[in-house]
Amino acid sequence: MRHLLEIDDLTSDELGRILSIATSVETPRVLAGKGTALIFEKPSARTRNSMEMAVVQLGGHPVYIQGQEVGIDSRESVEDVTRTMACFHAIVAARVFAHTVVERMAALDLVPIVNMLSDDAHPLQALADLLTMRREFGELEGRTVAYVGDANNVARSLALAAGLSGMHFRIASPVDYGFSDRDADRIATAGVEIEVVDRPEDAVAGADAVYADTWTSMGQEAEAEQRRRAFEGFQVDERLMELAGVDAIFLHCLPAHRNEEVTDAVLDGPRSRIWAQAANRMHAARGAMAWLMQERA
Ligand code: CP
Ligand code: NVA
Repeated sequence: MRHLLEIDDLTSDELGRILSIATSVETPRVLAGKGTALIFEKPSARTRNSMEMAVVQLGGHPVYIQGQEVGIDSRESVEDVTRTMACFHAIVAARVFAHTVVERMAALDLVPIVNMLSDDAHPLQALADLLTMRREFGELEGRTVAYVGDANNVARSLALAAGLSGMHFRIASPVDYGFSDRDADRIATAGVEIEVVDRPEDAVAGADAVYADTWTSMGQEAEAEQRRRAFEGFQVDERLMELAGVDAIFLHCLPAHRNEEVTDAVLDGPRSRIWAQAANRMHAARGAMAWLMQERA
C-alpha cells in the first residue's frame, strides 16, 4: 500500500511514472465503481475541483466532505474517520492543518491516503508544477526554479520535486521565514541540494522559472500584517522578472494576492503560466491517483 503525503514518499522514477501517466492519452479506469473521499479542513478551489474531475476521469465517484462534518479528532478520532471512509472509498484524500493527521491516516494502511495540502506539504501542487515546467522546457534536468517568499508547504514540496527531477532549486526568504532546520534536514535526507540566498535578485538571476506563493498561508491569518511588513522587498515584479533568464516563466500555485507577493503585470503578463499550471492540477491528480491504484493492484 502506497500513500502520497509528501513528494519524498516517491523515488525519482516513481515521480517520473506519475508524470507520464498524467500526460498519457489513455486514462486508466482504475476507480471504476469506486469512491474517493475528499476531506477538507481548509478552503479550496483548485484542489477540490481538480481532484473531483480526476476521480471522474478515472471512472470513480468523488465525495466532498467538509472537515466539520466528520470532525477529525473532535467528533471522532482521525483513525476512526479513516476506518469509516475506508468502508466506502478506495482512496482517502485530506486537506488538513497538522501534517501528523495525514500521517496517522496513512499509518492504518487501509487505503491509499493523499495529502491535498497540510501545513507542511502540498505534493499535488508540486506534481502540477513539474508538469507545467516539463511542457514548457521539455527536459527538467539542469533547469533552475527560483522561489521567492515564504518557505512554506508549497516551497518544501517544490524543492523536493525539483531536486528529485534533477533541477536546481533556489530560494530567497526574509529572515525568520526560511526553511526550518527540520525541513532542511528532510530535504537533505531526500538527497536534494538546494541553494538558499538572502536577496530575491540573487535567487532569480538566470533562473528558468520564478515561483511565488502567498506570504500568509491558511491558518496564519493573525500574522498577516506582521508578515506583510517582513516580506517587503520580496514582491515579484517586472523588474525582478527581467533579472531571470530571457525566456523565464512565472509560476504561482494560486490563490494569488494581487500586488502583494506578485504584481498584476507579472501575473497577467507574457511570462505567466499560472492558468496552464492550474489546469495541470487535474492531470497531476489523475496521474497520482492512477499510480496509487496501480501500486495497490
Ligand atoms: N493551489 C491550490 O491548492 O489551490 P486551492 O487552495 O484553491 O485548492
Ligand atoms: N501556502 C498556501 C498554499 C495555498 C494553496 C497555504 O497553505 O495557504
